[in-house]
Amino acid sequence: PQGGRVFSGIQPTGVPHLGNYLGALENWAALQGRFPSVLYSIVDLHSITQPQDPAQLRSNVLDMAASLLACGIDPEKAILFQQSQVSEHAELSWILGCLTSMPRLRHLPQWKMKSKQRSEGSVGLYTYPVLQAADILLYKSTHVPVGEDQVQHLELAQDLARIFNHRYGELFPEPRALLSSTQKVKSLRDPSVKMSKSDPHAMATISVTDSPEDIALKIRRAVTDFTSEVTYDPEARPGVSNLVLIHAAAAGVGVPEAVAQARGLSTAAYKGLVSEAVVQRLAPIREEIRRLREDPPHLQALLARGGDRAREMAAPVLAEVRRRVGF
Ligand code: ADP
Ligand code: NA
Repeated sequence: PQGGRVFSGIQPTGVPHLGNYLGALENWAALQGRFPSVLYSIVDLHSITQPQDPAQLRSNVLDMAASLLACGIDPEKAILFQQSQVSEHAELSWILGCLTSMPRLRHLPQWKMKSKQRSEGSVGLYTYPVLQAADILLYKSTHVPVGEDQVQHLELAQDLARIFNHRYGELFPEPRALLSSTQKVKSLRDPSVKMSKSDPHAMATISVTDSPEDIALKIRRAVTDFTSEVTYDPEARPGVSNLVLIHAAAAGVGVPEAVAQARGLSTAAYKGLVSEAVVQRLAPIREEIRRLREDPPHLQALLARGGDRAREMAAPVLAEVRRRVGF
């Protein structure tokens, strides 16, 4: 294990999809053994930048908590907590916001993408990356596992660490990205885009709680091409290559090994093999989510304890920030 502190967050959007699991959560679980200090937050303050139904939001938080635990987040090794239970996030976000210029935020991807989808974006959506910076810096985090789409947001956190340190004296380490090296899992309906929960097409995304039948159906219907043989060529054959990628990741083998296993199979037959690998990989996760979800008070108690532990780490950092600022 190396030194340093890992922080990452995920919005409570309900149960994660296969892309979230293979592209992020599997790695989150692996990091627990590699760093002495690891924090994972269900970032509900971030999720209210879009309209949320209160009862649905509460339920989504528990779904995500159960999912993270089922995907291998171990509350003995990582601090798993709900962001809104640690009010220090909001307070540090305000202070960092006062160190951020308006133009600095205007070109960040989150705002550019989501404000386009609505006629007016909220102030919260605009300053979302500042809250992200606060999430990270509040724990003096050194390493942040992120997708490539988040790199610019992490750069803001780095800038804000520098700006704060320059103005008020050295306090925050500059957090570094831990980029996942794996390819993005693509939509099963349109392999030119990534698998995403916001995809309106029900057959495009595999949820980690999908039944074996649903998984098989979705993969059977996955868009491929008119070549029957299985090869890996993401440029020319994005659909088939996505299946190879999913197969390799789900079976825990490399792409060449997955292609070798497909030798002699038509894409149609290969889809059966891919489904089998995904079903096997997700079966224990699905069962564990079901089990955990039957006991909401247990999940709430786990989150409350995680919140206490997070607050214990956050409070002295925020106290120092307040002192430096002059409060
Ligand atoms: P979504 O695109 O479904 O809204 P998020 O943006 O909330 O997912 O991403 C949560 C985490 O899952 C991030 O670390 C992101 O990089 C990862 N992730 C999301 N979609 C995929 C995908 N299709 N393949 C691999 N990783 C993904
Ligand atoms: Na997203």
